[in-house]
Amino acid sequence: MTRPLTVAVLGPGGTGGLLAALLSRSGHRVICLAGEATAEALRRTGITVRSPQFGDFTAAVDADTELREPVDACLITVKHTALGAALTRVSPAVLGDALAVPLLNGVEHPGALRARYRPDRVAPAVIRVESTRTAPGVIEHGSPFTEIDLAGDAVPRTRLEALAAHLTDCGTTARVAGDETAALWAKMAFLAPFALLTTRYGVPLGVARVRHRQELEALVAETAAVSRACGAPADPERALARYDAFPPAARSSMQRDAEAGRPLELDAIGGALLRAAERHGVPVPMTARLVRELRDSAR
Ligand SMILES: NC(=O)c1ccc[n+]([C@@H]2O[C@H](COP(=O)([O-])OP(=O)(O)OC[C@H]3O[C@@H](n4cnc5c(N)ncnc54)[C@H](OP(=O)(O)O)[C@@H]3O)[C@@H](O)[C@H]2O)c1
Repeated sequence: MTRPLTVAVLGPGGTGGLLAALLSRSGHRVICLAGEATAEALRRTGITVRSPQFGDFTAAVDADTELREPVDACLITVKHTALGAALTRVSPAVLGDALAVPLLNGVEHPGALRARYRPDRVAPAVIRVESTRTAPGVIEHGSPFTEIDLAGDAVPRTRLEALAAHLTDCGTTARVAGDETAALWAKMAFLAPFALLTTRYGVPLGVARVRHRQELEALVAETAAVSRACGAPADPERALARYDAFPPAARSSMQRDAEAGRPLELDAIGGALLRAAERHGVPVPMTARLVRELRDSAR
């Protein structure tokens, strides 16, 4: 039997709240890090999850506004737009030797984390899930799967495997990905065309993939070209086949944010794609157009 972990969760929202509740239910000590009002609500009521995959349950968690004690790992689950402010709650000195595990979408945040924390303890993860925080400490988990790929080329493999084993024990499907760049770009290559197109036109995937087919194909080809230039494999035909197999009502989280008037992770997804394209001299006219139009409409 391995000992229970102590895990901090910075940003206990849709993804973080779900993982915090699952880890706590499995017997680990969980400290959620949030603003005062959310921390107070979590201390009082714990986290309630409603989930077809995991059942409906409530798990007790500790909560604070900053990290004040050693932990085994800190899951970083804020949106990109809140990352800078949120990291002030976790000082490098207190985090020390613990793993810093960001689950954000995008490809640029690991660099920012490695500049602040021990580079060989930053373990970027990709999560495939659909989970929404409907109120502080209330999580609606909609997807019948919760898959996590843990990476971090410089992190000791044994540390990644131990964390993946605990995440698997608590019900997710977690594994250690061989190559960080490939893992992050695989998610980006799928997400970016889907998010940009559905958000730009405000329609679900089933409409976007028919009515805006040429744009979708161009976005997929451009993203694949950038991904390859960054050293990650890409398979545009498979990406298109996956979009075609998705339920027609699927909407991207960027689109849900736009509809709710929340800030968009546009710079972390579209902006990062454009910056990578420019660095490698890859032409991406369709991506540039959609990012420009989305930026204009967000003003
Ligand atoms: N949700 C999904 O299904 C899903 C799937 C795959 C990937 N992702 C990615 O995962 C990341 C997180 O997304 P999410 O949907 O989980 O976000 P979310 O539901 O909006 O949760 C973000 C959490 O961060 C907290 N927060 C905001 N500013 C903070 C600060 N300064 N200090 C501490 N906490 C702060 C919020 O607190 P309050 O509760 O107080 O507002 C909220 O609980 C994003 O990059 C997203 O693209 C999400």
